[in-house]
Amino acid sequence: AKDKVEETKELEWALIPPREVSQVDGVFLEKNMCNNWDKIWNFQAKPDDLLIASYPKAGTTWTQEIVDLIQNNGDIENSRRAPIHLRHPFLEWVRVIIYVARNAKDNMVSYYYFQTMNKGLPDPGSWDEYFETFMSGKVMWGSWFDHVKGWWKKKDSHPILYLFYEEMMKDPKREIRKVMEFLGKNLKEEVLDKIVNNTSFAVMKNNPMTNYINDIEMNHSLSPFMRKGVVGDWKNQFTEDQNKRFNEDYEKHMADTSLSFFEEL
Ligand code: A3P
Repeated sequence: AKDKVEETKELEWALIPPREVSQVDGVFLEKNMCNNWDKIWNFQAKPDDLLIASYPKAGTTWTQEIVDLIQNNGDIENSRRAPIHLRHPFLEWVRVIIYVARNAKDNMVSYYYFQTMNKGLPDPGSWDEYFETFMSGKVMWGSWFDHVKGWWKKKDSHPILYLFYEEMMKDPKREIRKVMEFLGKNLKEEVLDKIVNNTSFAVMKNNPMTNYINDIEMNHSLSPFMRKGVVGDWKNQFTEDQNKRFNEDYEKHMADTSLSFFEEL
């Protein structure tokens, strides 16, 4: 019976038409989003609104779950009240911001697999083709370089907590404590430990409220939404040549910023 359900899901997924793509200021976005852009641009935040921002596939869902658990004092049952995209609606402008950045190579690999499984995004083509598309910045939500550098710059003039996926992996509790302090909360150690445990990759992968398992546009048999959750997966994907080319381009793009990512990559 389970196979039957899977088969029906596959068929339904195949029948979903691809979304239409358009542009705002040269950045590719889904057409409906472009049509609504004025509304998003003119959105007025309240003083205590909070925005979580990231380039696609940098750890949005992870950060959303951490924030939700901190705001609800580690109440796990409450955090399972609804799927993550309903608990944290996608908006574009508020005052206090948490930004999460991920190193470009892993981000690219994650984005490639996400585009493979998600009908809401254009078909990425082969990995070699996608590599070129990503490097040219002609991907949905624009260039990774503009994104991470733009938010890094804004952090000097706006109240932004700038997180790194790799730091969250290295020491989740330290990074979760930063989020807690940024949110002006003071939770007990045991609550923090509970949040660390509940926002681990393994728990979030098994949690239907964070893993998009019921999203009809996503075909998890092609690539699960909670795919690997590791640092350095690019090594399994990049050819030597691609890595060389990437490193050269990367240096040029990052020459005008103080933002830096991680040595061991
Ligand atoms: P991979 O495809 O490399 O596995 P986003 O939420 O911005 O779409 O990012 C998704 C990426 O974050 C995926 O990366 C996913 O596996 C990873 N991720 C989600 N939750 C995570 C967690 N709790 N710990 C580590 N990685 C997580």
